Amino acid sequence: MAGFHWLMAVVLGHVSASLLPTRRPPPCQVFQMDVSCNGLNLRSAPADLPQGIQKLDLSHNIFQNLTRETLAFHTNVHQLSLHSNKIWFIEHGLFRGMKNLKFLDLSKNSLDVFALSQSTIGKLGAVESLDLSGNGLHTGMTNYFLRDSLSLVNLSLSSNSLTKISKDTFRGSLALRKVSLHNNVILEIEDGAFNVLLDLIELDLSKNSINCITDFDLSELEILNLSRNSLEAFQTTDSEFLEYKLVTLDLSQNKIHYFPLVPRRNKLAYLDISRNQLQGVNTTGAAEEMGNFREQSLARSPAGQAPPGHQDFSCLKYLDLSYNQIQTIPQSFFHSMVKLEHLNISNNCIGSFLVEEESHLNHLKVLDLSYNSLRNLTFGKYTLLSLKKLFLQGNLLTTMDPHTFQRQPSLMYLHLQQNNLNICPSHTDSSSSNNRVHPEGCVAFSSIPTLRYLYLSENNLKVLPNNAFTETPLTLLDLSVNPGLEVRPNALSGLEDSLVRLSLRENHIYRLDVDLSSLNHLKLVDLSANRLSSIPSWSKESSIESLNLANNHLVKLEYDMLVALESSLKTLYVGSNPLSCCSNLRFFQQMQRLALVVPDIASVTCVHMQGLEPVNIERVTEEMCHSLDNSSRHVAILVVLVVLALVLAVAVGLLAKVCYTRRQRPSSSFNA
Ligand SMILES: *[C@@H]1O[C@H](CO)[C@@H](O)[C@H](O)[C@H]1NC(C)=O
Ligand SMILES: *[C@@H]1O[C@H](CO)[C@@H](O)[C@H](O)[C@H]1NC(C)=O
Ligand SMILES: *[C@@H]1O[C@H](CO)[C@@H](O)[C@H](O)[C@H]1NC(C)=O
Ligand SMILES: *[C@@H]1O[C@H](CO)[C@@H](O)[C@H](O)[C@H]1NC(C)=O
Ligand SMILES: *[C@@H]1O[C@H](CO)[C@@H](O)[C@H](O)[C@H]1NC(C)=O
Ligand SMILES: *[C@@H]1O[C@H](CO)[C@@H](O)[C@H](O)[C@H]1NC(C)=O
Repeated sequence: MAGFHWLMAVVLGHVSASLLPTRRPPPCQVFQMDVSCNGLNLRSAPADLPQGIQKLDLSHNIFQNLTRETLAFHTNVHQLSLHSNKIWFIEHGLFRGMKNLKFLDLSKNSLDVFALSQSTIGKLGAVESLDLSGNGLHTGMTNYFLRDSLSLVNLSLSSNSLTKISKDTFRGSLALRKVSLHNNVILEIEDGAFNVLLDLIELDLSKNSINCITDFDLSELEILNLSRNSLEAFQTTDSEFLEYKLVTLDLSQNKIHYFPLVPRRNKLAYLDISRNQLQGVNTTGAAEEMGNFREQSLARSPAGQAPPGHQDFSCLKYLDLSYNQIQTIPQSFFHSMVKLEHLNISNNCIGSFLVEEESHLNHLKVLDLSYNSLRNLTFGKYTLLSLKKLFLQGNLLTTMDPHTFQRQPSLMYLHLQQNNLNICPSHTDSSSSNNRVHPEGCVAFSSIPTLRYLYLSENNLKVLPNNAFTETPLTLLDLSVNPGLEVRPNALSGLEDSLVRLSLRENHIYRLDVDLSSLNHLKLVDLSANRLSSIPSWSKESSIESLNLANNHLVKLEYDMLVALESSLKTLYVGSNPLSCCSNLRFFQQMQRLALVVPDIASVTCVHMQGLEPVNIERVTEEMCHSLDNSSRHVAILVVLVVLALVLAVAVGLLAKVCYTRRQRPSSSFNA
């Protein structure tokens, strides 16, 4: 027994000695003058690092004490990252001695503990960029780090617990240009707290609890992010002469009721007021007065573009007003927006949108009016000349000027799904007129040479008239979910050399008389969820790569179709059809031979014998159909035999009768 124990001990000892890692920590990665000791469970920097390193990454370790010793005296580095450690103590004056240190990342540590000890880190020396995010710092604690940070340019205090920015917060760091206070609980900003920062150009106050800014006066600021606060109003302290440098203003996800009052003389290019509570684009009552004052002063200015009551947005390129409760926007609101490129008014309550005046919004490239209550849409001549993408889905559009979209010379994407439109027959189709006048109550999609993407699903479309898209070389046409749609045989003519994607899904179509093979570039076709009992004919080879025939009434699939599509088809959906097993045997075999991808294979079943459960086509065998053949052949033979027997019986009967009468005749004569 004792001998056995001894043996075990020897064996285990041997094994563990060979498995145990060497005592030395795993080596850091060294690349030229950059060293990464990321995630090595270190309490201090390894002593054997090369001299003269510039960048030292010690993130994701377990440093607690940050001292010259724990840094192994690598105090000449330019960049030091101690992100995600457990630091709660920093040697006083450590950074003052690090003359080359420019970037210091102390994010995600326990520096609140350090601040509670009321010690300071001393001078920050040459540090220009300091990250103190995620340290649980409370109001007032920043002082222990920033008191003496004259070189500091970029500072992040995000994801801490600051509630107030006081006049003193940045007193020791007057060179700051960029400050992030994202994700704190700031409720209060003392008057002048940021005014001491004369070079401040970027301020991120997003995700805090600020509820009002009534006197914005940071005229040097270029980027201001106030997204995700509780702002009810934003107003600038204005002066006729003060020129603001603000370029980007993010006010999204607040509770703003009135259109913000931005600096009169501004350079605003980006303004996001999405997800607020705007009911219109009017400024407040107080602002109204200022507006009147402006009006007077503007009358004296040489340009004088801004109309009464509206602000000057002559540099604005991007405006997002989505997710508000805006009901109307007067055309005059856009007067000064001569450079506007992107306008998003989606998800509001707008009933009518007019752009009528010549040269209005002529730089606009993207206009999103989706999900409003639009009934009325009017685009005048020579307006919206650059418009490329127009989003109108989810509105109540029924009637409009039939030529509305023909007037946009740059239109490429047109989203009209979920409306109530009719498509005009092409002028070549209507015998009554030879000019291009369309009846009211429809929209023309012909003669829009720039249009490539057209979405018309869910419009209650009844007819797709012939030549609906002549001179409109669409790449994509979505006509899905228009139950009862009648597609005229020449409806798609004109798209022969352009159309790539076509969807006719969920239209209750019984029969499609369109020759899809005439569309030379067609690649994706969706005919699913219709009532087709036969596949549209293919007159020649086609380029279709993906064909969706799922959920129809198909019993027999034309083998010829596979032949026509042989060289291009890669994906075929054909599930949820009452397919017959034995009449499609050849088709199924060919599908296999071509190695088609059938994504809905689980639902591709066929009926093998009347009254039996459908079987998955993967389980169909030739024998199943042979045995069916055999049994029917037996029946046939049986029938033939029975018939033969009957005929024979009749013949025999007749013969017998003849013989009998012959035999009787002499006797009758004999009787006579
Ligand atoms: C941290 O360093 C200081 C100064 O060297 C020392 O007094 C203290 O004991 C250290 N604490 C820990 C937890 O190592
Ligand atoms: C400060 O931040 C800006 C913008 O992110 C960056 O371009 C600049 O290089 C940073 N400067 C320093 C010293 O970190
Ligand atoms: C403002 O901050 C939010 C984060 O809260 C960010 O998603 C958004 O992109 C920022 N806005 C700008 C204009 O940078
Ligand atoms: C906007 O203000 C003008 C002038 O006070 C007023 O006539 C108009 O009705 C207001 N519009 C809305 C939508 O409140
Ligand atoms: C408009 O805003 C909505 C909501 O914020 C967004 O989903 C949509 O993508 C935006 N539209 C464009 C064209 O950017
Ligand atoms: C469209 O606007 C015009 C003028 O603003 C108005 O007369 C007409 O009734 C409106 N049509 C619909 C359908 O709302």
